[in-house]
Amino acid sequence: MNINGTPWRTIGLEEGGRSVWVIDQTLLPHRFETRSLTSVEDAAAAISTMVVRGAPLIGVTGAYGLMLALQANPSDGALAAAFEQLNATRPTAVNLRWALERVRELVVPLPEAERADAARTEAGAIAEEDVAMCEAIGEHGLSLFQQLAAARPAARQGEPLNVLTHCNAGWLATVDWGTALAPIYKAHRAGLAIHVWVDETRPRNQGASLTAFELGKEGVPHTVIVDNAGGHLMQHGLVDAVIVGTDRTTRRGDVCNKIGTYLKALAAFDNGVPFYVALPSSTIDWSLDDGVAEIPIEARSELEVTHIQGRISAGPAVGEIASVQLTPDGSVGFNPAFDVTPARLVTALITERGVAAATEDGLRGLYPGR
Ligand code: MRU
Repeated sequence: MNINGTPWRTIGLEEGGRSVWVIDQTLLPHRFETRSLTSVEDAAAAISTMVVRGAPLIGVTGAYGLMLALQANPSDGALAAAFEQLNATRPTAVNLRWALERVRELVVPLPEAERADAARTEAGAIAEEDVAMCEAIGEHGLSLFQQLAAARPAARQGEPLNVLTHCNAGWLATVDWGTALAPIYKAHRAGLAIHVWVDETRPRNQGASLTAFELGKEGVPHTVIVDNAGGHLMQHGLVDAVIVGTDRTTRRGDVCNKIGTYLKALAAFDNGVPFYVALPSSTIDWSLDDGVAEIPIEARSELEVTHIQGRISAGPAVGEIASVQLTPDGSVGFNPAFDVTPARLVTALITERGVAAATEDGLRGLYPGR
């Protein structure tokens, strides 16, 4: 996708494949900088501190992290330790474990001298597949949006389609295109008038900082709203559809996504607004059924709740990125990072293979044999 007219991806190789560059998402939208990851420790720290984030991107970063580990030490012991270190960084998004297992299974039977190169090739393949899957999600979602736009009453034809999204499920969360934002980019490029309501997404504000950044760079009309505004907008007919991503989807179609997604789904259900979830198949955990009971929910630092980061807008430190305290000294915070939206609240799942009902039959229809 584009930043000031230049196409970018979120991750790539440098130094002839000896290290990996990523965009430092903790500085966005105020500063655009890349960082080099030269060791498995760097990769693990980048994932846990959310320099990189978003389910597909942390999977690809994990795969490259195994490559970095194997470049330093290709032994079985080092591979096992690196796998555990990377897998422990973030527990909810299943893409991380999926990508790590994929690289591990490939390299384990190989001679040690061949492992790092094989891991590099496999991590690159995971990245390219992610781009292709996200672009296909974009095409399927575009068809849905075109149908929604055409089905509106005559008086509303020509008005922008109003789509609400939560968190950041755009190209920054993947390698390119994004999941929930891919259909929005496709629609915009196809000339369908579209406007996006961007949930700020407390506590880390991925909507206000990252989704708004992406949409702005692509020229997509958008408005940032506080997380609590969505229900009100839906009651007043100002939302035609909700579309979000997911960090883990169970086989029956329960979706785990950024905290607050469930409340949007409830409001959408109450107001008859379609609620779509966009996902590549790397996000489906076929071993799980009941998302509320079975998906591990990451609890992050209370500091993300009690403090907030932004750019200083006045005074001697103007322009600097800083963190400020919101709460009284002594108040504690609790920070569950994800919640689960039950399948019954999901209108449809948009995958790289097409659109499915959020049911086990719906998913198995697209992925027979799973
Ligand atoms: O905590 P984050 O920023 O990694 O959470 C990301 C999300 O919840 C995204 O919406 C998600 O990964 C789904 S699709 C890219």
